[in-house]
Amino acid sequence: MSYVKLNAAKSAIEVIPKRGAMGLGSGSTVAIFAKELGQRIASGEVEVAVVPSSYQAYQLAIDYNIPLTNLDINPELLLTVDGADEIDKKLNLTKGGGGALFREKIVASASKKLIIIADESKLVNHLGTKSQIPVEVFPFSLGMVQRKIKQMGVESTVRQATKKMGPVVTDNGNFILDLKFPKPILTPSQVATDLKLIPGVIETGIFAGMADEVHIGTEDGAYVLKR
Ligand code: A5P
Repeated sequence: MSYVKLNAAKSAIEVIPKRGAMGLGSGSTVAIFAKELGQRIASGEVEVAVVPSSYQAYQLAIDYNIPLTNLDINPELLLTVDGADEIDKKLNLTKGGGGALFREKIVASASKKLIIIADESKLVNHLGTKSQIPVEVFPFSLGMVQRKIKQMGVESTVRQATKKMGPVVTDNGNFILDLKFPKPILTPSQVATDLKLIPGVIETGIFAGMADEVHIGTEDGAYVLKR
């Protein structure tokens, strides 16, 4: 167990509401957060229900006895706690390392506040530096989308599964393209818009201007970056 991730998770637990509906992100840091949240619910300290952002998050909620809700019952959430793959100086994010970016963005967008939990390795000057940018694509459009992305001067590869032959199929039945930009991304919001304008692009892993707080875990504790 990573104490750095645990410290980020514990820091976020301190700022969640005592009751209400919230979003549960995805990833290994969120898995640690979910365990902590389950313990606080079991002790009666907090009374929250979560909208899971992936099958992984759904399973975490089941495993840790966290009550579930959905966006029809709770179309507005008090906050979401999620992880990230890259965090720039303005708290723009790259997400989707685990392939859950589409539902993560929906849940984040439904939330009054987005809190990110991560370690210092995720901090970058500009997005596209440490990680590639995932894009969820409708399978029928794959070749066309790759061609249009290439015309933008960006290389893309279809993410491959590791315990199955062939491409990763997302929770929504789509494929993931990982985009390698020739230069760091200086205008994340514009790049995300340009990509989304391609028919067949369902969502991008660029979360521009969405995060309110980033809780960075360290060996000794955690510190908070605010937008
Ligand atoms: C899932 O698709 C991602 O957006 C994760 O939130 C992100 O990859 C961070 O995951 P870790 O906490 O495992 O680094």
